[in-house]
Amino acid sequence: MKNSTYEVKKSDEYLTKAKEVIPGGIFGHYKYAIRDTGPKFFSRSEGAYFWDLDDNRYVDLMCGYGPSILGYNHPEVEEAFKLSSDKGNTVSLASPVMVDLATELVDMVDIADWALFGKNGGDATSLAVMIAREHTGKKKIIKIDDGYHGVAPWMQDKSRPGIISSDNEHVLKIKWNDSEALEELLDKYGNDIACFISSPYDHPVSRDNSLPEDGY
Ligand SMILES: Cc1ncc(COP(=O)(O)O)c(C=O)c1O
Repeated sequence: MKNSTYEVKKSDEYLTKAKEVIPGGIFGHYKYAIRDTGPKFFSRSEGAYFWDLDDNRYVDLMCGYGPSILGYNHPEVEEAFKLSSDKGNTVSLASPVMVDLATELVDMVDIADWALFGKNGGDATSLAVMIAREHTGKKKIIKIDDGYHGVAPWMQDKSRPGIISSDNEHVLKIKWNDSEALEELLDKYGNDIACFISSPYDHPVSRDNSLPEDGY
């Protein structure tokens, strides 16, 4: 398929191949980057750029959806990765660098007494909700409508495939920037609310981002 700017033939061929062995071909966050006429797969990356399978070069303003803030193949990051991986990859005991990183994080973040590591954001948000429920002995969670916190069943919409009503029966939703709605829920369910989970600014998948209004 031809793009007005780039040829993406190899990407398209790979997507056809992918659909035979992977549901939808490309899933998760990557699927939102797919455009009929755009690139689907990368071939290499360096600094602020990646190249697609057809060797077109792009500036990656997404920074790999967050983690690549120093750019791809940054020499210091690659060196540290190599040093660590040479010692062993996924060994059956914890690595001491875990303690070093936790110490650094606890020193760096004023409100943090402890650090706990997960393999992704959804692990962290699910753990946060479990900790809040255990600590308060309460069930209900307030979240922002369309606010995204991972793929665990508690945060999926009732209409999603495989979700049953008990998965999220204690999840209450309010609109972003709506302090009144928050206060109403606190009045109504205050004795049973374990936590309010929200990003510091609203960044839903399919709408524009918005900042908190003054006083929110
Ligand atoms: C605010 C927030 N929480 C949780 C997640 C889930 O992270 P992950 O996809 O790494 O599980 C995301 C991912 O975009 C997020 O933006």
